[in-house]
Amino acid sequence: MKKKNIKDLLTWYLENKRDLPWRHTKDSYKIWISETMLQQTRVETVIPYYERFLKCLPDVPSLASVSEEQLLKLWEGLGYYSRARNLQKTAKILSDNQMDFLPPNKEELERLPGIGPYTVGAILSIAYGLPEPAIDGNVLRVLSRVYEEKEDILKPKVREKYCLLLKEFMDGIDASSFTQSFIELGALVCTKNPNCEVCPLKKCCLAYKHQTISLYPVKKIKKEKPIFEKTVFLCEYQKKVFIRKRKNEGLLANLYEFPNVDFLVNEEDIQRELKKRKVSYSLVRSLGNVKHVFSHQIWILHVYFISLNEKIPYELFVSEQELKEKYSLPTVFQKVWNLKKNL
Ligand code: ADE
Repeated sequence: MKKKNIKDLLTWYLENKRDLPWRHTKDSYKIWISETMLQQTRVETVIPYYERFLKCLPDVPSLASVSEEQLLKLWEGLGYYSRARNLQKTAKILSDNQMDFLPPNKEELERLPGIGPYTVGAILSIAYGLPEPAIDGNVLRVLSRVYEEKEDILKPKVREKYCLLLKEFMDGIDASSFTQSFIELGALVCTKNPNCEVCPLKKCCLAYKHQTISLYPVKKIKKEKPIFEKTVFLCEYQKKVFIRKRKNEGLLANLYEFPNVDFLVNEEDIQRELKKRKVSYSLVRSLGNVKHVFSHQIWILHVYFISLNEKIPYELFVSEQELKEKYSLPTVFQKVWNLKKNL
């Protein structure tokens, strides 16, 4: 890759870039929010979340002072909730230091919670125009093909090598467009099934030259994710449903869920248990299963609907409206809720 190829890439970017909301700003707070949401989440999914988030929390002080409940509600459905918690931790640190912006400085940014090397590069280059590369999966895919990279692209040393290389190319070039042109090329052209004919880097791409595109990027085979099976109870009384708060650590910490157990039970087991507890009910019915793939595990949920004739003491007992407006229910339990239509 030579400077001329980078120029071709930038020309392509300026002509083909998508009109995305975070591309209308240089505000470091907004860039930080968008780049955090865009990690592990698709652009189309992020757009409405980004707009709603900024409407409610337009600046560092508002994020620093929002309640955790409201913050998680704004994040509901985006997944990887630690991202939201880290945003707030960082906002609090900035607020304590009377800063309503992200520091334009690599060392200071690196010390803030949730801000890794990619986000540092994205904030510095996109918000501040500084020559600091931001290398995410999209960018690594492009580079691994251009250079026929034989090493596993997930190895830190591979990332570091390309970081040094890209930094050289950033000299004298608009850093924001530079960073986003690689991201955009990876998202629109140099995809899993790339469209090499329209690629502005095809003149310098070794994988294109040798027709070895399908061999790159090299990734070591991931360990299989463990599967956990659970039984979930959608337990209703007079149109209200029972929910509870998850514990304050681990997966989906502090979010809400429907009551569940870590083993399988059938309709007879549930009826027997209800009788044993002397709880009057009118219906126990299987609603089918939900499968949800997390980053490190898979859940298979067997869902039962239980209609009670009396209220039982339970942590929280809420209407559908309250569930929608007040409590953050992670996607896996939204899927459980959606099974109610099978009734
Ligand atoms: N993915 C990560 N950062 C992005 C950006 N700035 N634009 C589009 N997609 C992205």
